[in-house]
Amino acid sequence: MAFKAFHVVPPDGAPAEQARQRRRSLIGGDLQARRANGSPSELADPDVLDPVFRPSDFEVVRQWCQRDDGKPVVVEIGFQLGEFAAAFCVAQPEVAYLGFEVRKHFCEETAKLLRSKGAENARICLADARPILAEVAAGGRLQEILVFFPDPWWKPRHIKKRLFSEHFVADAHDWLRPGGRLLLKTDVEPYAALGEAVLRAHGGFAVERLADPHAGLPWTLRERRCDLHGYPTWAVSGIRQ
Ligand SMILES: C[S@@+](CC[C@H](N)C(=O)[O-])C[C@H]1O[C@@H](n2cnc3c(N)ncnc32)[C@H](O)[C@@H]1O
Repeated sequence: MAFKAFHVVPPDGAPAEQARQRRRSLIGGDLQARRANGSPSELADPDVLDPVFRPSDFEVVRQWCQRDDGKPVVVEIGFQLGEFAAAFCVAQPEVAYLGFEVRKHFCEETAKLLRSKGAENARICLADARPILAEVAAGGRLQEILVFFPDPWWKPRHIKKRLFSEHFVADAHDWLRPGGRLLLKTDVEPYAALGEAVLRAHGGFAVERLADPHAGLPWTLRERRCDLHGYPTWAVSGIRQ
């Protein structure tokens, strides 16, 4: 498969400018500004949480992450149609799954799927994961952060929208427990290289390009499609030290 050019730019500017750019990279924009000026989405499904606008939903998410029953909290960012979420939650009932997705339609479809499988160990949120995790997972609450086939954002002007960056990796280090894992799967080899590079540059992770690109986990929809078309995939793991 031929790749388009995958541009990588180093973070630029003084810390204040970098912080401004980080806020601008959030989907929907800065969380505090959204809370002050925005309004909640009309959600048809009661099992979809809106931690941005509904304080009671935010509290559910906070308690899910800051639990004291010892269950490992596994976060998936960008679950799309929930194929992985459903299979994973059924296979691992001892895990507390928390999924984030910015598209309402995907949240509602996934809520239906999880209900149909009887997966009670899952909570799903309509939100950009990053600012919510910064509020509920700081200080090492999570066992695992899963990022499967993130959008590559090929064009230079869109690079700021990419999930993996040195900032994201630094935040993930703060959200993970020692021994916890940040796992990236992708069908874009330069994205795997980018993930590996920013994880190594951070210095606080044991980094490995996994021999098994499926990482021994249930497959996502994109993963199955890649397999069907014979496209290779890669997995990069960072264990928080
Ligand atoms: C290419 S799709 C991933 C597909 C799916 N994980 C799979 O492997 O089949 C990327 C998904 O991530 C969602 N997404 C992107 N950035 C996100 C963020 N910051 N927080 C939550 N969801 C995000 C998008 O809406 C989209 O559904």
